[in-house]
Amino acid sequence: MKWSLKLIVPIALIGLAPMLYGSGVVAQEVRFSSEYLRDPANITLGKKLWFKRCTLCHGKEAYPGSAPKLRPARYQPEFVYDRVTNGFRGMPAMKQDFSEEERRAIVAYVMSQGFVE
Ligand code: HEC
Repeated sequence: MKWSLKLIVPIALIGLAPMLYGSGVVAQEVRFSSEYLRDPANITLGKKLWFKRCTLCHGKEAYPGSAPKLRPARYQPEFVYDRVTNGFRGMPAMKQDFSEEERRAIVAYVMSQGFVE
């Protein structure tokens, strides 16, 4: 490879990375620390949103069978975040309806000890 190419290729890749992130081509890593998940402010916000938007399909109040009962003990927080953000089959994607902060808070509530459907 010519020296100029050796220089240009890495620079082009660095330049491209944020574009790929923004477009969702590269999955954005959203991580959940235990501090975040334990924070009562996050859990409280998430709880409010859960009862506003999720119990329509999930949980006791929902029409039976419209959505599965959630089993947080079997989930990683990143999985719940992905479902809420991107949806899956009958589960609607909610990235237009909720900000990242709100979606993260919903995850904190679902993963919390106090989670009730
Ligand atoms: C319109 C109905 C509907 C609403 C509203 C809804 N869900 Fe769902 N959800 C579903 C259905 C249906 C599935 C099952 C999708 C599948 O796996 O086929 C599901 C699956 C899930 C799963 C994966 C469960 C598993 O064990 O695989 C999670 C987590 C989840 N929903 C969380 C939420 C949260 C949090 C909210 C509120 C922000 C929400 N859902 C709102 C219908 C809904």
